[in-house]
Amino acid sequence: MYLKREFIVRHPIIVFTAGIAVGICLIKIFSTPAAIDSFDSYVTQQSSFGADISNHYKIINESVLDRHVASHDHLYENTSLADQLKREVRLLCWVMTNPNNHKKKARHVKRTWGKRCNILLFMSSAADDELPTVKLDVEEGRPNLWRKVKEAFKYVYKHHYNDADWFYKADDDTYAVVENLRYMLYPYSPETPVHFGCKFKPFVKQGYMSGGAGYVLSKEALRRFVVEGIPDPKMCLPGTVINEDIEIGKCMENLNVTAGDSRDVNGRGRMFPFVPEQILIPYKDPNFWYWKYLYYKTDDGLDCCSDNAISFHYVPPNFMYVLDYLIYHLHPFGVIRAQRLPAKLKVGEFLPAPREEVANSNEDSMDDDDRINKTTINETQTEPDAREVE
Ligand SMILES: *[C@@H]1O[C@H](CO)[C@@H](O)[C@H](O)[C@H]1NC(C)=O
Ligand SMILES: *[C@@H]1O[C@H](CO)[C@@H](O)[C@H](O)[C@H]1NC(C)=O
Ligand SMILES: *[C@@H]1O[C@H](CO)[C@@H](O)[C@H](O)[C@H]1NC(C)=O
Ligand SMILES: *[C@@H]1O[C@H](CO)[C@@H](O)[C@H](O)[C@H]1NC(C)=O
Ligand SMILES: *[C@@H]1O[C@H](CO)[C@@H](O)[C@H](O)[C@H]1NC(C)=O
Repeated sequence: MYLKREFIVRHPIIVFTAGIAVGICLIKIFSTPAAIDSFDSYVTQQSSFGADISNHYKIINESVLDRHVASHDHLYENTSLADQLKREVRLLCWVMTNPNNHKKKARHVKRTWGKRCNILLFMSSAADDELPTVKLDVEEGRPNLWRKVKEAFKYVYKHHYNDADWFYKADDDTYAVVENLRYMLYPYSPETPVHFGCKFKPFVKQGYMSGGAGYVLSKEALRRFVVEGIPDPKMCLPGTVINEDIEIGKCMENLNVTAGDSRDVNGRGRMFPFVPEQILIPYKDPNFWYWKYLYYKTDDGLDCCSDNAISFHYVPPNFMYVLDYLIYHLHPFGVIRAQRLPAKLKVGEFLPAPREEVANSNEDSMDDDDRINKTTINETQTEPDAREVE
């Protein structure tokens, strides 16, 4: 960190050039039709991206994948810190899916990022022995999402309360870097009533977490939700609605569960409701709901996103394998980063807010000030919800 800063000061040109080079590579990588095609709500607003480059990457040929996508280990890799985190920050992940998506999406979550969770559960309305699924007694369809989330967390509390410290809800088109999620949570006590995600500011005073980026509840937050929240109509909405993320946000606030700050020390985001491309090279319509919803200011370009980013959304199955390759296999030779674990916090303690940094890669782009000044929240405009494809 210190060295890096010094390097930037002494060699601004090199760093800037390297930044551009990385940026261009990322554009190439993330501009595949797969990324765009998955991103229905965005595409409709970005007609210049064109909708006719559609289906090429959408459908996985299962038989090809079964034969060719295997895993391999790296002989000289030192995973001792990640192993320690896996022991000390036990993570249960549960993935919201439905019978249509067991084969199409959920199994690819299991083969990629999902396998890195301490416990992985798939919540559906139908049984599936291959995944397997937890068969919840809930009807499918988007209107039942809120009920499904409540039933899922009730199941998790009943069967796994003592098996994990943190409880992460994701969709079957969410991709998560599990090691980085554990790293973010590491300083916090699971007894602290807190939850983390991509924080949005409308509807709930302390903010609520985007459903697509996924949200993670501490053990105490899970207990309050299931024991004190769900049974009490003054705390959590009974019945069901589509917008489960807003409802659980309200519920968390009523239960005094803090809406945590998932940004890194530099103020860069770690949990995103879109694919990386859309965050790195954002569509600059200030009226697009995302910019108005975001709780924290963000920077464009590489300053948008933490080097320890955690989650992305609208990731099609094939792109999960691409991300797995880019994150866990491809590695620039001779580059090793020193990493240290932070100190632990006491129950109820929080990290200080990140300090604001001068952006060094987005001088020519729209800045946070422009964005904030031009936009106001329009409460009647609701978030396009593509979380669950029927
Ligand atoms: C999938 O791959 C197999 C093996 O390569 C091939 O025989 C089959 O025709 C492919 N199916 C489709 C729908 O492309
Ligand atoms: C692996 O990394 C840890 C610290 O991250 C270090 O203490 C240990 O010596 C390393 N092991 C090897 C074999 O290099
Ligand atoms: C939340 O905190 C407020 C203020 O400290 C307190 O009045 C209220 O009883 C708490 N509610 C719950 C459910 O813990
Ligand atoms: C945005 O508003 C803030 C205060 O309201 C002001 O300091 C800043 O200069 C404004 N930025 C622009 C680009 O107008
Ligand atoms: C808010 O959004 C709704 C629906 O998009 C629109 O009809 C309304 O005019 C907007 N209000 C403001 C103040 O922009």
